[in-house]
Amino acid sequence: MFRGLRWRLLLSYLTVMAAILGIFGAGVYVFFSQSMYSQLDKKLRTLAQAATPSFTQVKSRGSNYVNQVDIVPWRDIFNRDSQSLEWFDNRGKLLARRGTINLESSLELGFWTFPDPETNIPVRTLTISVFTDSSLDRPEGYIRASQSLEEIYTIKSQLFWVLIFGGMSTLILIGLGGFWLTRKAIEPIEASFNKLKQFTADASHELRGPVTAIKASVDVMQCHPERIHPKDAKKLSAISSATTQMGQLIGDLLFLARTDNATDVPARKRTKIALNKVLQDLVVLLEPIAQEKNITLKYELRPDIYIFGDLSQLNRLFSNLIENALQYTPSGGKVNVSLSKQNRFSLVNVEDSGIGIAPEQIPFVFDRFWRADKARTRREGGTGLGLAIASAIAQSHGGKITVTSQINKGSCFQVRIPVLAQKADI
Ligand SMILES: Nc1ncnc2c1ncn2[C@@H]1O[C@H](COP(=O)(O)OP(=O)(O)OP(=O)(O)O)[C@@H](O)[C@H]1O
Ligand SMILES: [Mg+2]
Repeated sequence: MFRGLRWRLLLSYLTVMAAILGIFGAGVYVFFSQSMYSQLDKKLRTLAQAATPSFTQVKSRGSNYVNQVDIVPWRDIFNRDSQSLEWFDNRGKLLARRGTINLESSLELGFWTFPDPETNIPVRTLTISVFTDSSLDRPEGYIRASQSLEEIYTIKSQLFWVLIFGGMSTLILIGLGGFWLTRKAIEPIEASFNKLKQFTADASHELRGPVTAIKASVDVMQCHPERIHPKDAKKLSAISSATTQMGQLIGDLLFLARTDNATDVPARKRTKIALNKVLQDLVVLLEPIAQEKNITLKYELRPDIYIFGDLSQLNRLFSNLIENALQYTPSGGKVNVSLSKQNRFSLVNVEDSGIGIAPEQIPFVFDRFWRADKARTRREGGTGLGLAIASAIAQSHGGKITVTSQINKGSCFQVRIPVLAQKADI
């Protein structure tokens, strides 16, 4: 029980940490990408502006001027391998180009990203208008500064993998730390749970004696009705039935406290059990109750399905389920008990056409002391421990109980318990 809780806690912790790391990593990635793009845009603007004063020279001398690497004003900020500068006249005709990028796209003012026709790698461009005479309202030409995004793409991909590997390693470290932390966190809860369990077991055990004594005394008194004042007879039978109920409750609590640990059932009590025999006996035993309530109780049992278990516990498990089916099915209804095999599991279905359980209540049916309608069920006796006990028994046999139900149509409780291997040595 606590091992499952520990893993669930660790998983939740890891999920939260992974989400935080993911958000942090995505934030870092987006921030660095954005800042690389804005730095690039700044660089392109500086480059285009540095090339503007030379426009007249370029217009008159063309490539002869731009190739004079020692005198051009952009020489210190220009990278021939990844950037290019282009000058156009006011009709968009190329006057000169410096650099290797050769874009075929038409001139568009402002920042744009186009694929390089040769390499297909995107290229960032900035086109600005050139005004040499401020009195003219038409630009004299245009300058386009471009840079390949290859370098940024490489850095982005490196950053991506660093973040992925960094995040994964951090998550592994967090997992190891979390494993230790959850263990430490669960330890006191486990200790107090064990104390509580022990207390319930001890208290139930201690209460059993006095309750048995009261019950025995009342029984003795009831054996001599002539000695009882007629006015006290009713009170005495009320004491007797309350004591019986209390005795059952104490027994149930003691049982649950002892079986909380699935490994508690001593192996020596376990034997090879033919499930069809157990179920058949129970149906025969409970048939009178069904008849009394005018309920059709049927069974359909496959023979030769054996499990390794505790007979009295299994009797209790299935009688709790069949009794519930009979109890929560109105007169004229049907209860069907079936036994089949699916792979390595025996399947016992207890199906009824009774009042059913509301979908929102289904998760609670196996909780201790839980009853669907307290006012209604109180009159019918019972404590709400029946299904909790059945579930504890199924678990201690390596199985589980599931339930499907529809209100006013009926319920089906299914018990899955591993079957005994054919050549088992018992
Ligand atoms: N077959 C069923 N059909 C409808 N409701 C059911 C059925 N079985 C159980 N329930 C609901 O689940 C509740 C819990 O069942 P459980 O057997 O644990 O307690 P109980 O029958 O009320 O009392 P106890 O079994 O201790 O005498 C019941 O009170 C009932 O509301
Ligand atoms: Mg019950």
